[in-house]
Amino acid sequence: MYNEYLGRQTQNNTQNVLRSDDIKYLWHPYTDIKNFERTTFPIIKHGKGIFLYDTEGKKYFDGISSWWCVNFGHSRHELIEAIKEQSASLQHSILGGISHPEAIQLSKKLAKITPEGLNHAFYASDGSSATEAALKIALQYWCNIGVTNRTKFICLEDGYHGDTLGAIGVGYVETFHKNFKPAVKESYRALSPNCADCPFKKEASTCNIECFTSMEELIIQHHSSVAAVIVEPLCQGAAGIRIYPEEYLRRLAKLCNQYEILLIADEIAVGFCRTGSMFACDRAGISPDIMLLGKGLTGGYLPMSAVMVTDTIYNSFRNNDGNDRTFYHGHTFSGNPITSHLAIAALTLYKDLNILEMIQPKIKQLKNGMEEIGKLLNNSYVSTLGMIASVHLNKESGGASRAKRIKEEALSNNLIVRPLGNTIYLWPPLISTENELNEMLSLLKDAVKKTI
Ligand SMILES: Cc1ncc(COP(=O)(O)O)c(C=O)c1O
Repeated sequence: MYNEYLGRQTQNNTQNVLRSDDIKYLWHPYTDIKNFERTTFPIIKHGKGIFLYDTEGKKYFDGISSWWCVNFGHSRHELIEAIKEQSASLQHSILGGISHPEAIQLSKKLAKITPEGLNHAFYASDGSSATEAALKIALQYWCNIGVTNRTKFICLEDGYHGDTLGAIGVGYVETFHKNFKPAVKESYRALSPNCADCPFKKEASTCNIECFTSMEELIIQHHSSVAAVIVEPLCQGAAGIRIYPEEYLRRLAKLCNQYEILLIADEIAVGFCRTGSMFACDRAGISPDIMLLGKGLTGGYLPMSAVMVTDTIYNSFRNNDGNDRTFYHGHTFSGNPITSHLAIAALTLYKDLNILEMIQPKIKQLKNGMEEIGKLLNNSYVSTLGMIASVHLNKESGGASRAKRIKEEALSNNLIVRPLGNTIYLWPPLISTENELNEMLSLLKDAVKKTI
């Protein structure tokens, strides 16, 4: 397709034609159209390792793993081969009433690596659709066992579980979702564990998870009408990389257990080694009733997501005594053979490359580097978790508007980052080498210095 443009145009003219056709025909997600049209935005043509290359041959560090998913970087041959291999033998066959080996094998592997008890995989298409499926599974579970009044959800303020209406109902971010609020089913919202701006003015050394009281009160007050609590374990990503203590999750799991509320852990962003453990729930030593997986499940090569559930939940969906308990939910591409085969290859790669061990020294490197950047920004609050590192720019350092300028400077320095409000962060591919990490950190530091 690109060659088609090249064929008709001179090299220089090609960029202009692509840009004007983009502005004319393409609608970009999460993009301010007016601003976008004024910029000479990169048009990415190919990727290799942790780099993206635009049509002009300019090379960019992928500092956010292309929206938190390309854990193995770009053009990883094992993953490309998996796609090719499977598309040559069976590109699609449904899971409604029939099966195929790829989905069977993948489900078995996922049951093995996810926390204990999550033995069944239901496949969706992307993160948002996994959230929708999980919420419906939770609602129907209670109906299946004859409890009809458990129809509400508890979630965290500023949580994010996708952009579909059901997902917004449990994960409202004001800037993203305010226009849709009237159409959304409301949930009970517990205080966000926002350590960068602790409402109790606590620091790590004095914190006793005071913010958990809000969750506790909601559970105690409303448990009899609540189907499930849903959280992003350990890191509220889209809210601005709010990293919170493992103890919060442990208390939550205990309380959900005590009040017989289902716990849904949305590991779409943080699953698959990102936190320094296979799953964030592993770090806290908890096993939720439902776990959501996406993004890194396929190494970010094709969209696929999974909802893992316990035996108790799964078995409640068996038709019994003449009662229809079928889960009437599915997507055309649920458990597609290509994405399933690809996910199996990605799971093999996590193991073969020994990703968990490989990233340990880099976790420290990233933390140290980001702490230096925090110092340059008026000692702004730095939070890190595994291969996620963020600085929350305080007012004195310029807050959200400075963060925006840093992003622009970084881009002109060939580093792709995207601030979330006043938070700038790195979420690098897990295969980044020490040198590459150093370069990313120093490009970010340069961008910070240039925006003083
Ligand atoms: C925690 C979490 N859940 C769900 C989603 C939605 O995933 P998708 O963008 O694939 O719909 C995201 C996306 O960033 C996410 O971070």
